[in-house]
Amino acid sequence: TYSLIPALVFGYLLGSIPFGLLLTRAAGLGDVRKIGSGNIGATNVLRTGNKGLAAATLLLDALKGTAAVLIAGHFAPEMAIWAGLGAFLGHLFPAWLGFKGGKGVATYLGVLIGLAWQVALIFAVVWLVMAFLFRYSSLAALTAAVIVPVALYVLGTPQIAALFVAMSVIVFIKHRENISRLLAGTEGKIGAKG
Ligand code: G3P
Repeated sequence: TYSLIPALVFGYLLGSIPFGLLLTRAAGLGDVRKIGSGNIGATNVLRTGNKGLAAATLLLDALKGTAAVLIAGHFAPEMAIWAGLGAFLGHLFPAWLGFKGGKGVATYLGVLIGLAWQVALIFAVVWLVMAFLFRYSSLAALTAAVIVPVALYVLGTPQIAALFVAMSVIVFIKHRENISRLLAGTEGKIGAKG
């Protein structure tokens, strides 16, 4: 419908705010894209050694996804899904950074909180258990990204499940270097300085 494009654009604009980059810059830590994995997400911000800044990055990158969904959904329920997709794509492909954004995990979670908070809890539990067991942020996120679409489908929300199938596929594509490093045993563990 006609509300699809405005919802996508609105979500994109919110999602494209690169909080990790802005916060590390504001804190005088330089360009987070030059350290660790080169990513602008919370996991890589943590490699600066600043835990508070990493937590703030996680929170704000998630919140922009939740906000996009809730605000758009306030106008029309079917707009929520498109705004969520927009926010996710905005985080991954921000025009302001030459379309080179993050890997989308925090924003994926934020969109999920807005659309199906029960499944967001499942995401959080899976992520935490995997992170506790193996200490790889990427592996924890990839495992959660497999389980979330299945959980959504089982819960009987096929439209939201379809959105998350698409977003999970993109999350996997964005993590291809992490996957190579995991297989080679060279992936950085959570909190290890980079
Ligand atoms: O959420 C991103 C995480 O899965 C991987 O981050 O910096 O280790 O590539 P990074």
